[in-house]
Amino acid sequence: MRVFVGLTLPDAITEQLSSMCSGIPGARWVAPENQHITLRFVGEVDGGTLEELAIALAEVRAPAFSLSLVGLGKFESARSVRAVWAAVTPQDPVAFLAAKVESAMVRAGLEPEHRKFKPHVTVGRLKDAPQGRVAEWMEQHGDVETPPFAVSEFVLYQSHLTKDGAYYEVLADYPLQEDFAGP
Ligand code: 2AM
Repeated sequence: MRVFVGLTLPDAITEQLSSMCSGIPGARWVAPENQHITLRFVGEVDGGTLEELAIALAEVRAPAFSLSLVGLGKFESARSVRAVWAAVTPQDPVAFLAAKVESAMVRAGLEPEHRKFKPHVTVGRLKDAPQGRVAEWMEQHGDVETPPFAVSEFVLYQSHLTKDGAYYEVLADYPLQEDFAGP
């Protein structure tokens, strides 16, 4: 099974993001029900490891928080833009939670993740998109700003890869603390 840990987004937020999902030729736009924030990509695991991960995640203690999505960013490879995304504000509470999740994953036996954590909501995946059109799109939608929304849990997702693209299923959810007293 291919799994990862993330945050779900309220429907009103994904609807708002989806209203900007057009205008780049060849883009694969992420459907609203698949938009999320990844805290930790795990990848393929067997059933035993998945159980260990689920147990470790249930031990994570971190405060609930409020987030907005403000502004856009992009991931680029050597020559082309691979993904466009909405940025997350503020980042500190998400980074705190992601660090807690990371130590839980390592406790459960996974190799540590060395890439820097960059919270984002991917809205489009691109392949050979004309650079000018990407720049135009970023300019047009760069002032996107959602209202703040409450994040009161995080989830373990299964990623299903199909010929029509990936979709994500929530396997388990884990509450965040409304009355968190410290690390
Ligand atoms: P992305 O949205 O920036 O592509 C499920 O695949 C989720 O895990 C996606 O949100 C994806 O981020 C994230 N992810 C992080 N590292 C990944 C990797 N090496 N392969 C696939 N997805 C990855």
